Amino acid sequence: MMLPKYVQIYEVGPRDGLQNESQSIATSVKIDLIERLANAGFTHVEATSFVSPKAVPQMADHAEVMAGIKRKKGTVYPVLVPNVRGMEAALSAGVQTVAVFAAASETFSLKNINCSIEQSFARFAPIMEMAQKANIPVRGYVSCVVGCPYEGDTAPSAVAKVASELYEAGCYEISLGDTIGVGTPEGVRAMLDAVTKVVPVKNLALHFHDTYGRALDNIYAGLEMGVSVVDSSVAGLGGCPYAPGSSGNVASEDVLNMLHRLGIETGVDVAAVEETSQFISSYLGR
Ligand code: HMG
Ligand code: MG
Repeated sequence: MMLPKYVQIYEVGPRDGLQNESQSIATSVKIDLIERLANAGFTHVEATSFVSPKAVPQMADHAEVMAGIKRKKGTVYPVLVPNVRGMEAALSAGVQTVAVFAAASETFSLKNINCSIEQSFARFAPIMEMAQKANIPVRGYVSCVVGCPYEGDTAPSAVAKVASELYEAGCYEISLGDTIGVGTPEGVRAMLDAVTKVVPVKNLALHFHDTYGRALDNIYAGLEMGVSVVDSSVAGLGGCPYAPGSSGNVASEDVLNMLHRLGIETGVDVAAVEETSQFISSYLGR
């Protein structure tokens, strides 16, 4: 398969990147970060999550963040919603896109959202209805697509099942998360072989954490199989509070440099992303 000519980078730094930070981060800094990323050319900047502040304290200022950002024309600012309550709050905040998040591992589902995989789909159903009424696209995440911090290796068939359920439920895009960064190109190919049988490849995204430094190789393997949406996080920030030992998402600037060297367009200005990376890293004391 030929590599795509254009890849859409879905920037998750302000959400996946910051959610794991224990130090308090001023709302104004989050807003500044989001605006810098939009100005750098990302069309998708995942801004925050409307989850329980008990689960993820860092995202408790979700409404203030959404109210504070100057929205750029042509940029969308998706947010995570775990339940109807989160969806109601997200709608009140005027969001244009939301994301629901499921897992391919039962134990991870329990730890992350306190319910089984099956129960999670029952929770998503009313969210999908509300989104349809409000004409809001819903993205679906699948966590632990190659491995789980609690259960070890994930079977490709388990990922395909959850991905296809999200797609059938109406998600416009399914983001496949290597939550703990244990993927290898071989493992990613086997997983994508199973998933692309049930979800069209144009509706898939790669969401790789970089614990063992394999994320770029894994992304390349996904691009070769026709995926053309990649999630990444400025400065490689991040980690999931429910995935002990997992490191950040693959760094946006690394993905951009790789893609541009391959002659693949992204519409994103790497220099502006590198500057933004400096800005947030120095704020966080890195
Ligand atoms: P629960 O305890 O089963 O739910 O949590 P509950 O309904 O019993 O509520 C518990 C408390 O949270 C209550 O407060 C609720 O009011 C409150 P209390 O009465 O105890 O004071 N609450 C809320 N508050 C604000 N907004 C809400 C909300 N819902 C309940 N929407 C629940 C279930 C799903 C709510 C919880 O487990 C949760 O919020 N989990 C979110 C976990 C999370 O955000 N994880 C990180 C994102 S996923 C990720 O990073 C992976 C990804 O990047 C892909 C990858 O890398 O694989 C996407
Ligand atoms: Mg993640």
